[in-house]
Parts: sequence; structure tokens; C-alpha cells
Amino acid sequence: MVTIDFDIFPTRETAPADQRDAILADPGFGAHFTDHMVTMRWSEEAGWHDARLEAYGSFTLDPATSVFHYGQELFEGMKAYRQDSGATVLFRPEVNAARFNSSARRMAMPEIPEDVFVRAIELLVSEDRDWVPTTPGTSLYLRPFMIATQRGLGFSKPSTDYLFCVIASPAAAYFGGGEKPRALTVWLSEHYSRAAPGGTGFVKVGGNYGGALAASREALEKGCDQVVWLDAVEHTWVEEMGGMNLFFVHTPPGGCPRIMTPELTGTLLPGVTRDSLLKLAPTLGIEAGEGRISTAEWREQCAAGELTEAFACGTAAVMAPVGRVRGVSGGWTMGDGEPGPVTMRLREELLGIQYGRLPDPFGWIRKVC
Ligand code: COI
Repeated sequence: MVTIDFDIFPTRETAPADQRDAILADPGFGAHFTDHMVTMRWSEEAGWHDARLEAYGSFTLDPATSVFHYGQELFEGMKAYRQDSGATVLFRPEVNAARFNSSARRMAMPEIPEDVFVRAIELLVSEDRDWVPTTPGTSLYLRPFMIATQRGLGFSKPSTDYLFCVIASPAAAYFGGGEKPRALTVWLSEHYSRAAPGGTGFVKVGGNYGGALAASREALEKGCDQVVWLDAVEHTWVEEMGGMNLFFVHTPPGGCPRIMTPELTGTLLPGVTRDSLLKLAPTLGIEAGEGRISTAEWREQCAAGELTEAFACGTAAVMAPVGRVRGVSGGWTMGDGEPGPVTMRLREELLGIQYGRLPDPFGWIRKVC
């Protein structure tokens, strides 16, 4: 087992309490950052070294640093929650650690031992615990990431040097609107593709997101909130929404509801919230499984009243109900277009576990301080 000790350099220049409280009262998403960050470097000769917690601040990087040119980078998204008991907790951080390493393998970057990854997160959360907001539905969003730092424009092999960093940002509801989510209108992207077989769709790398922005802009121009991605080969099968996974709810008259999410074909991101909902739903009498659905089936099943709800899920937004779909050949509505009961039931249960209002039967919660 690798032992890595983090050197701790707390800053004396923390934000004044009144300034911090004003931010925590209305944090938005990803706009404000805490007093500290964690960094760690990797080189071919030394492996992981120079692990430290230090003041949040800028990096100085040579303009020829490889990440700027070839996008060799990856990131994660996770949250710390302040529970009613006063405890500050993480949700399944080891799953983020495993996915970080899966992304690292695909991007030919060095892996980080899972316990070191989790320790880095815990150190930052613990040092900046006063930055965890306490109003309902808020959290401290954590953004671990890694970039290639070798200087040079050669492209014959992966970088010889890397920087790992974790930053933290107090966060309110991702789509605004306070604790109660509003139903989104989504745009079917029939022209652009997010990920192709053999590509990087199953890992969390910046290129997947940068390449999505033209389609996101198109969705906004069409008056929609988010883009829905179809498979890149047939442009038929529904894959994801924006940077989130999708679920469909079928409710037979008088029967038990069933949730279905597109299977992980290699082009979809294996979301932590996606996995948690697949495990949680059956404990609530909701059948859950993976499958596939075409845009035509989505439309027909809504018209037949079989597909009653749809929602997207991800760490940042938790669960976002989808009310309406639009595309070049028209649009349709899920149920009455409002957040549905199955979506809201699952959301309440998941948030209940995260905020400590409900028992944690799966052992997903890890107390930090
Ligand atoms: C997350 O849900 O954590 C994400 O990575 C989405 C991000 C693009 C805000």
C-alpha cells in the first residue's frame, strides 16, 4: 500500500465570516470557492508526491503545458452535506474514487490509490467545514480533477507530469428554484453526438463537456433547458441529458411503477446517482432496471399513457424532472408536464439519506467531521 502524507498549510487569510455567510445565504452553483484546496503532483521518477492542503489560489503554468493543447484531463463531482445532527458527511466517495481511476486509465493518466483520493477530499471538507451551507437543499460541491502538466507540444506519448487538485464550492439547487424542482423542457439533439463507441463517453473528462456546448446552446436557442443525446450510430436510442443520466417511469394502471435507465453501452457515464437510484428504488416497491428506449418509443409510450414520468439525475442537480420534449419533428409532454409522484418519492428518499433525515440502509454515508 502506498503511503502519502499530506502537508497541511492552513491560510491565515480566510474570507471574513460576514462575507462567507453572505455567500452561504445565496451560493448559486460553482460561483464561489472555499479558503483552501488540495494539490498533489505526479512525475515518472517520483510517482505521487508533494501532497498538500494549502490556500485556494491560481496556478502558474507554462503556455506550452500539454493540457492546454491536447485536453489530457479528467474530473469528478461529489458533495459534502451538513446533516441535522451537525455532522458533515460524504456520499459514497469511494465510488467517485473508482470512477476517477477508470477515467485515468482511459486517458493514459496515473491512478490515485482510492484511500488517498478519499483522504484528500476529507482533508479539504474538514478544513473548510464552515463553508458547508446549512439551508435545505444546499451542499458543498467538491471538484477533484487532474491535468497533464508536461511542457511541450509533442504528441507521441502521454504527459510525464500531472497535477491533481480538489476545490470546493458551496452550492444551491443546480437548476435554481429552491428545494422544489421544476420540470425541464429538453431538446432532442438529432444532429450532434456526445460519444461514439470506443470513445470517452463512459469517463468523466472535459472533452465530453466542451464538445457538448454547441448542442446545449442550440437547446437554449430552441427555448429548452437541456439537450438529450442519442446514440451516435443510429441516432435513435436515448442515452443521456446534458451532463446527466436519464430515467423513464412506466406506471401500469393499478400496478407498481417501474423505472428504467439506458444501459451502459460504453458511451454513457456510469453516474453515482444513477447507480444509487437503481439500488434504492426496489426498497420502495419500485421495480428498477436498465434497458433501451428510442425517441419514437418515448413519444408513443407517453401518448399511450404508459410512460408517465421521466427525470434526469446527477450529483450536481440530484434529480431533475423532465416535463416536455421538443425536437425537429415536434414535441410531447410527460403526464401533465409537472414533476411526477415516482420522481418526487425517489428524490425525497435519496435526499433523506444524504441529509440524515432517513436511515442509511446501504452504508452510503461517510462522516467527515
Ligand atoms: C455533476 O453532476 O457533478 C456534474 O458533473 C455535472 C456538471 C457538469 C455540473
